[in-house]
Amino acid sequence: MRLLILGGTTEASVLADAIAGRADIAAVLSLAGRTRSPAPSPIPTRIGGFGGAEGLSAYLDAEHIDAVVDATHPFAAQMSRHAAEACRAAKLPLLIFTRPPWERQSGDRWIDVATMEEAARTLGDIPRNVFLTQGRLQLGAFAGARHHRYIVRAIERPDKIDALPRHRLILARGPFRFADEEALMRAESIEFLVSKNSGGEATYAKIEAARNLGLPVVMVRRPAKPDVERTTRLEEVLAWLDTHRAAP
Ligand SMILES: NC(=O)c1ccc[n+]([C@@H]2O[C@H](COP(=O)([O-])OP(=O)(O)OC[C@H]3O[C@@H](n4cnc5c(N)ncnc54)[C@H](OP(=O)(O)O)[C@@H]3O)[C@@H](O)[C@H]2O)c1
Repeated sequence: MRLLILGGTTEASVLADAIAGRADIAAVLSLAGRTRSPAPSPIPTRIGGFGGAEGLSAYLDAEHIDAVVDATHPFAAQMSRHAAEACRAAKLPLLIFTRPPWERQSGDRWIDVATMEEAARTLGDIPRNVFLTQGRLQLGAFAGARHHRYIVRAIERPDKIDALPRHRLILARGPFRFADEEALMRAESIEFLVSKNSGGEATYAKIEAARNLGLPVVMVRRPAKPDVERTTRLEEVLAWLDTHRAAP
């Protein structure tokens, strides 16, 4: 079986680890190329966009792909849309492998918003100390709210960081620990945390720390993903692969 895994996430890495070395599955992991030094993978990797849904269709055909697992990030809506379109056209099985969203718990002070622009507006007119953890690609949304002081945490330096006159940049990759998150928020006198509802363990400590400190979290909802079969469990992905591998 020739399998394409659309990655850039922990789920994609976990799946790659689980099928590496299997003689019955020839898998390739696809990354968008956003991270300059991605973590090494035990299966062959290709890097860069396909050129829209048409480009992906051409790739699926040229590489004789039999099935696709979309393990992109919950906020990577465009790639998932293209995968759904291309797989539908080629009549290929497609499974979304994703993590559940975080759920609000007692003590959480979440302000739910739909977009990063809405998140920036929600911070209000009074200058605040804001902890931005939503990733370097969506920093531009805060360029219109220059009166706040931002603690920006990202894996790599955001291109648009200088649009924020008062900021401190922290370059770091998760997982993060609760005690460290709480200490950072205290030390920087944080008044708002901005986060995407990414889900997963690696970055949840900031949500717990905000809860413990009684801080509001501006939580950006997930965009809609296409209506295709999905799971949050590796065992179900492996079972799905077996089903489709056995098909004539
Ligand atoms: N968005 C996030 O918050 C976030 C967080 C962590 C990791 N990531 C990962 O970073 C990547 C890009 O995210 P995004 O939000 O920019 O996605 P996006 O908006 O859905 O995708 C934008 C374009 O990037 C290319 N692309 C995205 N994922 C790709 C993949 N796995 N392999 C090849 N090309 C890919 C595609 O280009 P073409 O149209 O040219 O094919 C796609 O149309 C994804 O792989 C995602 O899993 C995203």
